[in-house]
Amino acid sequence: MKGNKRTTCLGNKERKSKQLSLVIFISLLCCYIYYDLRLNQVEDNVQKIVEYWVRKLDIESRFPDVLDNLIRNYVCQFVLFSFNNQSVQVIHYQHLTQASTFFMFDTFRSSSKLFETFERHASCVNSIDYSTFPGHQFICSASDQTVCVWNVKDNKQIKFNRHSSNVNCVKFSPYHHCNHRRDVICSSSRDNTIRFWDFKENQQLEVFKEHNSAVYGIEFSSFNFGRYLCSGSSDKTIRLWDVETSKSLHNFKNHSIVCCVAFSPLQSNQNNYNYDKSNGIGVIGGNGYTICSGSWDNTIQIWDIETAKQITEFNRHKDIVKSVKYGLNATVMNVANTILSGSNDKSVRLWDIRSGKQIQVFNEHTSIVNVVEYSPFVVKRNKIFNGNVICSASNDNTICFWDIRLNKTKLHLIQGQDEDDGICSLKFLSIQKKKDIIKMSLCYGSCKGFIRICG
Ligand SMILES: *[C@@H]1O[C@H](CO)[C@@H](O)[C@H](O)[C@H]1NC(C)=O
Ligand SMILES: *[C@@H]1O[C@H](CO)[C@@H](O)[C@H](O)[C@H]1NC(C)=O
Ligand SMILES: *[C@@H]1O[C@H](CO)[C@@H](O)[C@H](O)[C@H]1NC(C)=O
Ligand SMILES: *[C@@H]1O[C@H](CO)[C@@H](O)[C@H](O)[C@H]1NC(C)=O
Repeated sequence: MKGNKRTTCLGNKERKSKQLSLVIFISLLCCYIYYDLRLNQVEDNVQKIVEYWVRKLDIESRFPDVLDNLIRNYVCQFVLFSFNNQSVQVIHYQHLTQASTFFMFDTFRSSSKLFETFERHASCVNSIDYSTFPGHQFICSASDQTVCVWNVKDNKQIKFNRHSSNVNCVKFSPYHHCNHRRDVICSSSRDNTIRFWDFKENQQLEVFKEHNSAVYGIEFSSFNFGRYLCSGSSDKTIRLWDVETSKSLHNFKNHSIVCCVAFSPLQSNQNNYNYDKSNGIGVIGGNGYTICSGSWDNTIQIWDIETAKQITEFNRHKDIVKSVKYGLNATVMNVANTILSGSNDKSVRLWDIRSGKQIQVFNEHTSIVNVVEYSPFVVKRNKIFNGNVICSASNDNTICFWDIRLNKTKLHLIQGQDEDDGICSLKFLSIQKKKDIIKMSLCYGSCKGFIRICG
């Protein structure tokens, strides 16, 4: 793939015809995949399908500069559905904040068991991430000063030890994957830095040093293929970075120590080809998107990326907010415009962004809640599939599942092993078992350094 040249100098008329053709192309692509594919080999087939339509529509010779972006967009963000007797699958190459496949919760609940434990870390596993890129099966984890990448297939481990203090958060970089075909991890640390590391080449890339104190949560932007990164720090700021230029673009300030951050999910109505439209703080394509942050001041704040202004504050937690997540706008998971949070006050809360109100409180944990997630599970009720299952992990050594539409007690509980002594990180994994079986599993990191997978 070529580099990502985004400035175009087309006239209005030409641009319109280009956009129209793209719409037609993508629609045809959708139909083709929907009707002709048995879903199993979507990844293998992406290239073939694209090539087919490129030939058919003569796209290459008509719009040579568009092709790269188109394929990237397709591979990274395409959403499609398939129904079979075991699961409702939404293949969603939106690589980012949420798991990419939806599965039946009842199947998971009745059949899940612990099936894998990785080599133990020396102390608490602060963060886990899973690479959802096609063809990849990697988990990464952070504990002490160490970042580890594990190959899921053979448990092989690669270590990165360049931080001089605790690593708080790790993420696979969608930016490097989509733009440069490189396998890169990004990590934030108590040594005040954010580091990028190519784990295939074992090479440290950029180091972001502008924070004046420990860096906690980090996250890549949902838009522009992860080109932007936000980070929360104990210097009481949230920084927004341009990964492409390694520049710090903005500093959001109205919190005490910032524990966790999140980008709002990709909007289906956003025009992703409109690259030359930049906003006031230089974030290309950031218009309409927000950042959410949780803090030691017990509040959750939402920031408009376009205006760099705080637009909402949720202040009903009674202790530090450890984890925040945005709800995704997908057909089976209709939780758009909500935020989920977990706190040291032992509660998990659900908030409505538009009304600024708290929707639900889940109070069954008996200790600090370290992490919350919207799960990839759907429940079937009255013949309708609904993705309303959330989960949370706590120092009380449990992972709890709730249905957000019901005020009832939890749906399910996974008890950690005795030697785990609390659960501090978790991540859903859609592991390809055989050619046509994708299994939904849950990976968690414990306070005593164990990483386990159940499902
Ligand atoms: C699900 O489908 C497979 C074949 O596609 C079949 O072998 C299996 O029995 C089905 N399971 C149920 C529970 O219907
Ligand atoms: C959610 O998706 C629907 C249908 O795709 C769309 O009409 C709506 O605008 C989306 N909402 C948000 C907040 O993106
Ligand atoms: C800081 O937060 C408070 C509480 O929500 C709000 O009233 C105030 O406008 C915010 N200040 C800035 C600069 O965003
Ligand atoms: C859940 O509780 C809230 C108030 O606590 C109430 O307004 C709402 O109707 C309840 N929802 C259900 C489904 O019972």
